[in-house]
Amino acid sequence: MRLLLLNGPNLNLLGQREPGLYGSTSLEEIEKDLKSFSDTEGIQLECFQTNFEGALVERIHQSIGKIEGILINAGAYTHSSIALRDALLGTGIPYVELHLSNTSSREQFRHHSYLADKAVGIVSGFGAYSYRLALEGLIFYLRQAN
Ligand code: DQA
Repeated sequence: MRLLLLNGPNLNLLGQREPGLYGSTSLEEIEKDLKSFSDTEGIQLECFQTNFEGALVERIHQSIGKIEGILINAGAYTHSSIALRDALLGTGIPYVELHLSNTSSREQFRHHSYLADKAVGIVSGFGAYSYRLALEGLIFYLRQAN
């Protein structure tokens, strides 16, 4: 099984960025943890972070026929990007939306997600641990489906 972890804008700053909200764990540490967990599950995990919307869209397109499931923290694009929604739906690859913070308890503009209604599920509010929970949820879903 091959899975893809996508991170959108500003998530490269994790660890330094608003630590009261997002915690002190860096993206590199999160990716390392997820990769070692994936190894123990016999799963190949690819990781990609970019601050550019089009680069996320292209990476999603490149996943066709290669990736069975996507974990995505689209950052602020969650609340703005129809292009990202269309890319995910266009590939038909199941995805889990995730956030470190509980977006529903924050500003009104973070309450809407363009990705949520078509996701397998959503994990939001557990800090860096949201990534692990989202990965476990996606694996559970794919193993049941296959
Ligand atoms: C975030 C929540 C978004 O609203 C915000 O724009 C981010 C991070 C999170 O992980 O909590 O960049 O996706």
